[in-house]
Amino acid sequence: MLGILAKESARTRLEITHAVVHWACVVMVKQVVKDLVSPPLLQVDHHSSSFLSIESLDAVTGGTISLVIIGVLLYIILRKLRKDKNFRENGGMVLKHQRVRIFSEAELAKATENYNDHKKLGEGGFGCVYKGVLPDNTQLAVKKFKGVDKAQMNEEFQHEIGMVLQVNHKNVVKLLGLCLQTKVPLLVYEFISNGTLFHHIHDRKSQVLRTWTDRLRVAAETALALEYLHSLANPPMIHGDVKTVNILLDEDGTAKMADFGASVLISPGQTDIATRIQGTFGYLDPEYLMTGNLTVKSDVFSFGVVLVELMTGQKPNSNAKSGEKRNVVQDSISSLENNHLFKILDFEADEEELEEIEVVAELAKRCVNSSGVKRPSMKEVSDELSRLTSLHEDLWGQKNSEETEHLLGKSALSFNENTSPSMNEPQMAQSVISLEIENYSNSI
Ligand SMILES: Nc1ncnc2c1ncn2[C@@H]1O[C@H](COP(=O)(O)OP(=O)(O)O)[C@@H](O)[C@H]1O
Ligand SMILES: [Mg+2]
Repeated sequence: MLGILAKESARTRLEITHAVVHWACVVMVKQVVKDLVSPPLLQVDHHSSSFLSIESLDAVTGGTISLVIIGVLLYIILRKLRKDKNFRENGGMVLKHQRVRIFSEAELAKATENYNDHKKLGEGGFGCVYKGVLPDNTQLAVKKFKGVDKAQMNEEFQHEIGMVLQVNHKNVVKLLGLCLQTKVPLLVYEFISNGTLFHHIHDRKSQVLRTWTDRLRVAAETALALEYLHSLANPPMIHGDVKTVNILLDEDGTAKMADFGASVLISPGQTDIATRIQGTFGYLDPEYLMTGNLTVKSDVFSFGVVLVELMTGQKPNSNAKSGEKRNVVQDSISSLENNHLFKILDFEADEEELEEIEVVAELAKRCVNSSGVKRPSMKEVSDELSRLTSLHEDLWGQKNSEETEHLLGKSALSFNENTSPSMNEPQMAQSVISLEIENYSNSI
């Protein structure tokens, strides 16, 4: 879009510059050729044993050096022209006035060690993301769109940039800058050091989501980001591809929503928009699949799937042992109906926590309702999760102070007294909850 704006005037200027460079080249080359074939060069020195005179040798050397210099100069000029052309075509004249930094192609190539494989942070449907470090030690994540179709890649870029320039929230990945000198521009994001939520849920070695406290916090932070996108961003937007691979965790474990490649802007009050179907199997809203209308409730559905994944550690798009595609949400719901809750949880939880988990499971069930209108809004979801997070923090504060008092009292009374089990030891509650998703099985 921005590229189209700048294209016309850029083309005229570029044509003039090309004509000037062409004329300059012709004049210079003519001069060099004239030098080379001029009489002193071809005069045969009958008195000398060599075919060419010293003067003519000088002329040849001089001519060759001139040619090399002209060649180098031409190369530099044409490279600069190409970069300027890309810059203008990629909307640089408009984007340079935005709050983002404009990086040069060389700066980013150096920062990423020429997009070295060992710098690759991840890869999605549209691009590869590389880690970069600037000379001042700022860490970057450089998104390079992959694919051969320049026009389509450019469209993806213009789309994502259009979205990401609108957002500014602590739980959304920040755009630091852009590089417009390359054919398909590069997006430069702040580097989020702790990988994806997907990784921490499914990698058994990760300790980041060991407790319910961590999982509840991550869920509440992601909900805050989505609530912001739906109702507080100006203009609001639908993320369109909510999944654990697109949720990143920083060094403190804070959740950051990433990847706006499938996002769409909506006007305030508008609830849905017709788009070509994009998204990820397992997280996709069945209603959107059927109607092609992406709604804010499609994000709510995908978020519900993320909640189930956070609680059960099951991948929503994994295959059953038989090789059949299965629906983890459906399976988890059945498990929750038939088993005790603690059996399908992916972490240990005590009795009070199980009560909170029941509430979250109930919320997840509402989010994945097959009918969009019956799903809660992201604001409701976020308010509920924030309320639970505060309750949870109070509970822990209370528990810790009771434990401290208990330990202090004990040490004051007797050092030899038998101790009671630690408050921190997880106690498994035999609580059962029923999570039935209305008509869910019919909907996908
Ligand atoms: N800012 C970032 N910091 C660290 N890693 C990132 C960042 N952005 C993306 N990544 C990694 O790159 C992957 C692909 O990025 P994403 O923007 O989702 O691309 P795509 O649109 O191709 O899916 C992510 O899943 C993540 O592993
Ligand atoms: Mg992605």
